[in-house]
Amino acid sequence: EDAAGPRHLLDIDDLSPAEVTEILDRATSLKTTQRAGNTHQFLAGQTLGMVFEKPSTRTRVSFETGMTQLGGHAVFLGPDDVGLGGREPAKDISRTLSRYVDAVMVRTFDHANVVEIAEYATVPVVNGLTDAAHPCQTLADLLTIRERFGDEARVAWVGDGNNVAQSFVVGAALAGLDLTVATPAEYGIDDAVVERATDLGATPTVTDDPEAAVADADVVYTDVWVSMGQEDQRAEKLAVFEDGGFQLNESLLAGTDAAVMHCLPAHRGEEVTDTVIESERSLVWEQAENRLHAQKALLTWLLD
Ligand code: CP
Ligand code: NVA
Repeated sequence: EDAAGPRHLLDIDDLSPAEVTEILDRATSLKTTQRAGNTHQFLAGQTLGMVFEKPSTRTRVSFETGMTQLGGHAVFLGPDDVGLGGREPAKDISRTLSRYVDAVMVRTFDHANVVEIAEYATVPVVNGLTDAAHPCQTLADLLTIRERFGDEARVAWVGDGNNVAQSFVVGAALAGLDLTVATPAEYGIDDAVVERATDLGATPTVTDDPEAAVADADVVYTDVWVSMGQEDQRAEKLAVFEDGGFQLNESLLAGTDAAVMHCLPAHRGEEVTDTVIESERSLVWEQAENRLHAQKALLTWLLD
């Protein structure tokens, strides 16, 4: 920490392109070390506080396991524990946790919560998913793409313009990937996200035509059509995505040999078919594993 306070990861463009590369390099190195069974307890004695307002499998287990492998410890605080904004305001949770732990990870609905926690924290704060962004997922996604394709790939996002999409669009710009985003017009990514990508020198092609988007893609990425907290929009959203042909199925992917990514959890039969996600195209388990390596790299980088 310097005079400006600790670094945080609230969204992926809190990192420069060079810093993204540095963290991905570190992730690759940690992955090799861990797979060889070698000790890498760089965070011995350190604790990560984890605040969850929504359910999780990958985020919780990868952060918790990652801290264990690094010789540290993680504390899980679920919705019944902290009661973000209910039992206690976010700014009080932030200042309290800062006195105990070395870093805080937050999964919350309203992105403003994680911004407020970072504002008051004296330790690094990491966004573990908000309604607007999922930068830890993006780090794992960029690692997965780099492992498979190297530094150049044509990527198509097909589906909802949600939190995962928005961070990925900005992350793809940071990494210099060629990106097409296909969403229904009414469920697109925010204009501000396109502007952020453009400011980074990589304007994504935006369309509502999934077939055009996948035609030249090396990899096609999707996520659920109904995110956590949007359950009341389920019927109307499903109708729009189905009508627009946004499902990743064999027919959409016929004629391409594109790989398929999904951040998981997947809703088979909605945004992706069982056949496609279980096929040779699928990178989803590599992607899920890479959450572990990317976040370990991020934590050691933040706490260096
Ligand atoms: N991809 C992802 O963040 O998964 P979880 O919601 O299970 O953490
Ligand atoms: N878009 C999904 C991602 C879950 C990891 C959601 O917000 O529910």
